[in-house]
Amino acid sequence: MADKDKILSTGRRTVRVHLTPGGVTGERIAISLAEEQAVVVDVLRATTTIIQALSSGATAVVPCLSPEDALGLSGRLDPARVLLVGEKGGVKPPGFDLGNSPLDFTPARVRGKSIVMGTTNGTRALLSVAKAGRVFAGAFVNLSALVEELNQTGDPVRIVCAGQHGQPCGEDTLFAGWLARELSHLDEPYAVSGDIETRLAVEMAGTMEPGQLHAALQAEEHGRTLAGLGFAGDVELASSLDSLPVVPRLRHDPTRLELVGPGPRSLARDKVPGH
Ligand code: MLT
Repeated sequence: MADKDKILSTGRRTVRVHLTPGGVTGERIAISLAEEQAVVVDVLRATTTIIQALSSGATAVVPCLSPEDALGLSGRLDPARVLLVGEKGGVKPPGFDLGNSPLDFTPARVRGKSIVMGTTNGTRALLSVAKAGRVFAGAFVNLSALVEELNQTGDPVRIVCAGQHGQPCGEDTLFAGWLARELSHLDEPYAVSGDIETRLAVEMAGTMEPGQLHAALQAEEHGRTLAGLGFAGDVELASSLDSLPVVPRLRHDPTRLELVGPGPRSLARDKVPGH
């Protein structure tokens, strides 16, 4: 284990950012320490969609390594209780029930269903840190609820950005810096790691205000791509800070991994913008 990891993992209440699941140095993140908390973020759109699905009453989300993996798994499950969802190039693959637009995950469609999900970056990033003690899905829609959950234990936090095809992306980096900033402002503050990835993320968040978030996400490469595909509404939803105060957690199961959400913190459960 590299020296900086040794220093970090011995310190409780420390936060560190990884701009991609493989880390800027390319070495895989060895998150094996049971007492560490990992937050995985894919603002546009996988973790935003996962939070929306659970907030709308889905019973669980099963992340898969790819859309193909999800197709294979869903074929072995009861179609009456399972929805197959995901994207390829941002759009719904043939034969899938839903794509990856959070606006489509309404209570009418997903309540009581298990969701089998395969996307390009987000679901793969979730599985890459499954060994961490506690693993959460994060996005701007649940940021404050996430801070509260992480503060429960005060264990070290690693924020793992899904990025785009192994490269850092602006929207995830911005979220990571914003979350690190909020954790450092707690009554019992988290110490922010001094490594380059974390410094870049905190730098990017700077003193940005909630009112600037939508424009910031629209300006990012994937924000523009999604708008071009007709998903401008997804970018707006993804920028609505604290609109879905639920915290999905990865549950360890010998046969598969599932995302389950603890009870919502307020009556936001049945609300999907525009529905
Ligand atoms: C991903 O997981 O790669 C993204 O969420 C894809 C997308 O929805 O555009």
